[in-house]
Amino acid sequence: MRLKDIFDNNRHWVAEKLKADDQYFSKMARDQHPKLLYIGCSDSRVSAEELMGMAPGEVFVHRNIANMVPNTDLSAMSVIKYAVNILKVQDVVVCGHYKCGGVKAAMEHADLGLLNPWLRNIRDVYRMHQRELNKIGDEEQRFRKLVEHNVQEQCINVIKTAVIQRAWKERGVRVHGWVFDIGTGKLKDLKIDFEGILDQIMEIYRID
Ligand code: CO
Repeated sequence: MRLKDIFDNNRHWVAEKLKADDQYFSKMARDQHPKLLYIGCSDSRVSAEELMGMAPGEVFVHRNIANMVPNTDLSAMSVIKYAVNILKVQDVVVCGHYKCGGVKAAMEHADLGLLNPWLRNIRDVYRMHQRELNKIGDEEQRFRKLVEHNVQEQCINVIKTAVIQRAWKERGVRVHGWVFDIGTGKLKDLKIDFEGILDQIMEIYRID
């Protein structure tokens, strides 16, 4: 892929869109009303809109290495605040994926410099589930399990925010944990127990 090709592709895309609807871009420019906030991995194989079959304007997207939602990450926190309070999304999804390089790196012990503190957040997830994970003999299975636990823990980080707690009370906003299977293309709902998590964490994290 040469960069020049991207501009050719773009011209082609604009022409195709306008052929189907000559108001396509002027309508798009007016506003956005996404119903979903998607928090996913930056991995080039996990293309948020395409894997969900969603069009421009339908999903608000935040991506970083290993779909993390660290409590003090201003970028992730701003995205959640904006999507929930201003755009009024109804659902928030944390979508992880198997074969995640970020999660894999956190399972290894290389010194990756600037990446270390980021990966430490994933190592914290490993530590929280260490006993269960260490029982899994097969490394690939352990890797998959950590991907799932990481999604669940990042969902908990989302649920801990005052923004989500208020939006859930006021208009039933919900948080979901999904995993994308790169090997099959399939999306799996981890069916996290949203209300259960909320109940459990409220005692400590409730913001009145
Ligand atoms: Co990844």
